[in-house]
Amino acid sequence: MAAQVRIGEPMPRVDGAAKVTGQALFPADETVAGPAYAFLVTSAVARGRVARIDAAEAEALPGVLLVLTHENTRGEVKPPAGPGGQGGTTTTLESDRVWHDGQIVAVVVADSYEIARDAARRVKIGYAAEPAAAGFDSAGTTTEPAESMEGGPTPKAGDAEAAFAAAPVKVDARYSTPTQHHNAMELFTTTCLWRGDELVVYEPSQFVGGVQSGLARQLGVPREKIRVISKFVGGGFGGKGGLTARTAWIALAARRLRRPVKLAATRDQGFTIATYRAETRHRIRLAADRQGHLQALIHQGDSVTSRPSKYNANGLSTSGRLYACPNVLTEGMITHADRNTPGFMRAPPETPFLFPLECAMDELAAELAIDPIELRRINDTRKDPTSGKPYTSRSLMRCFDEAARAFGWSRRDPKPGAMRDGEWLIGWGCASAAYSANIGAGACRVSLTPEGKAHVQIAAHELGTGSYTILTQVAADRLGLRPQDVTVEIGDSALPPAGISAGSSHASTICNVLAKACEEVRARLAQAAVAANRGPFSGQDPAHLTLSAGRLQGPAGRAEPLAEAVRRVGGVVEVHAENLPKGAPPNGLETLHKGGMAMSRGSGRPDGLAYAFGAQFVEVRVHERTREVRAPRAVGAFAAGRIINPTTARSQYMGGMIWGISSALHEATEIDRRLGRYYNKDFAEYLIPVNADVQQVDVIFVPEEDHEVNPLGMKGIGEIGIVGMNAAVANAVWHATGRRIRDLPIRIEKLL
Ligand code: MOS
Repeated sequence: MAAQVRIGEPMPRVDGAAKVTGQALFPADETVAGPAYAFLVTSAVARGRVARIDAAEAEALPGVLLVLTHENTRGEVKPPAGPGGQGGTTTTLESDRVWHDGQIVAVVVADSYEIARDAARRVKIGYAAEPAAAGFDSAGTTTEPAESMEGGPTPKAGDAEAAFAAAPVKVDARYSTPTQHHNAMELFTTTCLWRGDELVVYEPSQFVGGVQSGLARQLGVPREKIRVISKFVGGGFGGKGGLTARTAWIALAARRLRRPVKLAATRDQGFTIATYRAETRHRIRLAADRQGHLQALIHQGDSVTSRPSKYNANGLSTSGRLYACPNVLTEGMITHADRNTPGFMRAPPETPFLFPLECAMDELAAELAIDPIELRRINDTRKDPTSGKPYTSRSLMRCFDEAARAFGWSRRDPKPGAMRDGEWLIGWGCASAAYSANIGAGACRVSLTPEGKAHVQIAAHELGTGSYTILTQVAADRLGLRPQDVTVEIGDSALPPAGISAGSSHASTICNVLAKACEEVRARLAQAAVAANRGPFSGQDPAHLTLSAGRLQGPAGRAEPLAEAVRRVGGVVEVHAENLPKGAPPNGLETLHKGGMAMSRGSGRPDGLAYAFGAQFVEVRVHERTREVRAPRAVGAFAAGRIINPTTARSQYMGGMIWGISSALHEATEIDRRLGRYYNKDFAEYLIPVNADVQQVDVIFVPEEDHEVNPLGMKGIGEIGIVGMNAAVANAVWHATGRRIRDLPIRIEKLL
C-alpha cells in the first residue's frame, strides 16, 4: 500500500483537478428544474424614501413573472439581522427607507436573465431624496464611541497622556485607509427552490449555518425546513461571511412563483448589496526614552459604518497590546454615514489598525536613529502590557530575524533616498504582523469501512483555502489511510455544523474536531481488539494501539489488517464528534447547533493571549521623475503554530502578502462625495494588481509549537499574510523618497 499522508506534509489540492476541469460545482452552477431568473433593481439615491413605484411597463414585457417591491412584500419577512449585528446589508424589503446608494429596492423575475434585466430597467422608481452624508467630513454624519471589534473595552494602562507629555522622543501623526471591496472572482449569487414547505438555497457562503438560521428568522420558517448548500466558494475574504438582503428576496420570489429562482447579481451591484472594508482614520502618538523603550502608546481610531449598523473595524485590542509599554490609551469610534454596511474583509481589524501603528513605529525608529527591527526587539514582550496575561507563544522576533536574513536587510543604508538603481529610488521597509488565534466550536461525522474507506461529513466551507484537502489529510493521518481512501463532504447545512469560515479560525475548527472524531474511531477499534478473546491485541492496553498504513498496530510488531478490526465492531464504525474549544462560551455547542457563532478568540481568552505573528519586508522602487511606485520583491515570515499543509498554507500567506501590497498601492473604492455613490464599481477602474505588479513573493515558515492554543497546536493562517504589508510598503516608500505618505493608497499624485 502506498504511503499514507501525514499532517504537516505538502499535499496537492484534492479538488484541484475538479476545479481546473470545470467539474467543481459553484452554487450558481447547480442545476435546478425550470428556473426563473432574477435581476435586482437598486436605489439611485443614497438617502430618502421610495415614494412611487411604477412597474407597469416592466410587468407588461412578455416573459416577466413578478416584480417584488416593498409594497407587495411588506410584513412578509423580517429584515436581515446584519445592521446592528455583524456585517449584513440593508434593504427596502421591510420598508420604503433607503439607507444607501445601490440598495435593493425591487426584484424582477422573468423567464430569462435577459428579459429580467430588460424589465428591471423599465421599473420606474420615484424617490423622496434627502441630502446624503458620504463618509468622514460629510455634513450630517454622527460619531459615537465603539468597543473593540470583538466586543468589550479597548486596552488601557497607566497614564498615557502624562507619559507622552514627559517623554523625550515622540511621534504624533494621523493616518487613514480607504474603502475597499473584496471583489472575489465569483459574483454574489443565490438560487432558491421550495419543495413543499422546505426551502433549498444554493449560495456561496462562508457560513451555511448562519444563512440557514438567519433566513429562518427572516422568513418565519423553522430552521430544519431550510437547507443551504455551498460546495465551492469562488473567493470569500469575509464578503460571503454574513447573510445579506438578497437571499430572502429570492426565497420569497421562488415561493410566490412555485418555481426555482436564480440570481447572479452584477459586478457593480456587488459593491452595494454586500459588505466591504470600511474606511478608517487614526491618530497615533508614540513616545519613547532615548534607548527606544516605549513610554506611551495612544491610538485613536474611527471607522465608517452605515446608519443602522454598529459594525466597526476597530483593531485596538491588537494595536494596544502588541508591544511592551507601561502607558497605553486606545479609543475607538464609529461614524455613521449614508452608506451600505461594511463588514469583514481579510483581517478586518488588523489590516487598517496595524497600518498606523507599524508606520508610527518606523517613524519613531527614524527619530531615535535605531533600526526598525531593533526597535521592535527592544519592545518585544511575552505578555499583554495592559493586563499582564501571557502570550501562549510569540515568535515575532524570530520572524523578523529570518525574514531580514532572507531579504538582505543588513545591506540597507538607513538614510532615505540613499539607495538607487539608475532612475529608480530604492526603498526597503518592514513591519510586524499579528493576528488572533481563533477557533470555533465544531461537530463532524466520520465513518470507516472494513475496506479501509473513510468518509468525513462536516458543514465546512471551501473558499479556495484548501478545506477539502486538509480534511482529507487529517483523516488520512489519523486513520492510517491513503488520501484516495478518504472522501470529504462539506458545504451543506444538513451536515454536522462547523461554524463560520472566518477569523482565520476554520482550519483550526474543522481539523481539531475531525482529529477528535478519528481518535474516537481508533479508541473504539482498539477497545474492541483488546477485549476480544482472540487476535493479536487480546488483553493489551488500548492506548498503545494506533491506526497506521491500513492496519491496527500495537507494540512489538503486533498488527492486524483494518478489515479485521472494523469487522469486530460490526462492519463499519461511525462516529459523531463535537468540540468545544478552550475559551469558547460554555453554551457554545448549543449556539453552534442553532446556527450561531461560538468562537474562542485568541485575543480574548481568559488564560492569556493567543496570537500568530509575522514579519513583512518589501522593496519598492519609485521613479525619480514620474514617481511611479513598483514593489518587485517581498519576503514574509510567519509563525502560526502547526501547519497542516505547507502547499495550501504557502498560497494563503502569499495571497495575503500580495493583497497587502495591493491594499497599499492600488485599491480604493472612490466615492462621489455629493451623492454618496461609489463610482469605480468594476474591474476596469477598481485597481487590483496583476502579475507585472507583484513579481517575487517569498514565504518563510517559522516553526512553532504551541500546546495551549488547541490540541493540534494550530493558530490559523488565513489572514495574517495581509497584516502589516501596507505599513511595510509605506515605510519602504519613505525610505526611497523621504516622504511619509500616511494616507492609503500611495499613488503617484501623493508623491509628486
Ligand atoms: Mo475573514 S475577513 O474573517 O472572512
